[in-house]
Amino acid sequence: MRRIIIDTDPGQDDAVAILLALASPEEIEVLGITAVAGNVPLALTQKNARIVCELAGRTDIKVFAGYDAPLRRKLITAEHVHGKTGLDGPSLPDPVMPLAEGHAVDFIVETVRREPEGTVTLCPLGPLTNIAAALQKAPDIAGRLQEIVLMGGAYFEVGNITPAAEFNIYVDPEAADIVMKSGVRITIMPLDVTHKALVTKARNDAFRALGTPVGVAVAQMTDFFERFDKEKYGSAGAPLHDPCVTAYLIRPDLFKGRFVNVEVETQSELTMGMTVADWWGVSKRKPNATFMGDIDAGEFFALLTERLARL
Ligand code: BDR
Ligand code: CA
Repeated sequence: MRRIIIDTDPGQDDAVAILLALASPEEIEVLGITAVAGNVPLALTQKNARIVCELAGRTDIKVFAGYDAPLRRKLITAEHVHGKTGLDGPSLPDPVMPLAEGHAVDFIVETVRREPEGTVTLCPLGPLTNIAAALQKAPDIAGRLQEIVLMGGAYFEVGNITPAAEFNIYVDPEAADIVMKSGVRITIMPLDVTHKALVTKARNDAFRALGTPVGVAVAQMTDFFERFDKEKYGSAGAPLHDPCVTAYLIRPDLFKGRFVNVEVETQSELTMGMTVADWWGVSKRKPNATFMGDIDAGEFFALLTERLARL
């Protein structure tokens, strides 16, 4: 059983990642959700996180708001991918459940300190601002975490927001750098993996065929979200980036990667936010993260559809 805090900037793919976690109580206990600015500003990401909880019928989940901007930079958003609301596609009602009181970073710190050592996993699905801020505020939590499983970065796929960088890392490279150097056990789902998790027409039809509000909403989300990647990459459909994180907690055997050194560029404007993964072991730098490279996409979508059917 994994006990997790999801740190997120929903985002249609974030929404699917959250739904997968909430649909999998045998493997995953969601201790809380923390929102961060990323795909869209914080006012929308925290609201979208609550919309998704309500869609799943889980108004009991605590959703906290965190940082509204990166540690040292101006926020860059991705409305060109996710639409104006961040969750364009389905028309979902405004949430009734309130935002939890307190700051996301305090919730992360307090939870990791309160729970038994080695039992809490952080699952960042957006820029790493909240996570880095928590590690800076309370360095003792690094030794108490079980793992950080995050979506971010790229090596062979290189960049989606710049020629060199993936969006989550690019938005707050200083935060990503802090996380990579934290000493916590880290597993990374980069674009190298997520660009293989594509919602083809048949996979989208399978979501819609569930005939439930969740199945239909997920089909509408991925319908919307695929426009961008189809135009840009000529790919078969929307890449489900963030659900790779929650799927990994359920079925780690679906992913293949290497434990290597991963560092983040924070100086060069040209390659800002690039994740330099020593895939071939050519440096003497110490391995610090399991950098995934492959996914069994067929099994991943079978799992996702089977779990979403439960909601
Ligand atoms: C990442 O950026 C966001 O657009 C997605 O939600 C995902 O977390 C992919 O680069
Ligand atoms: Ca995201």
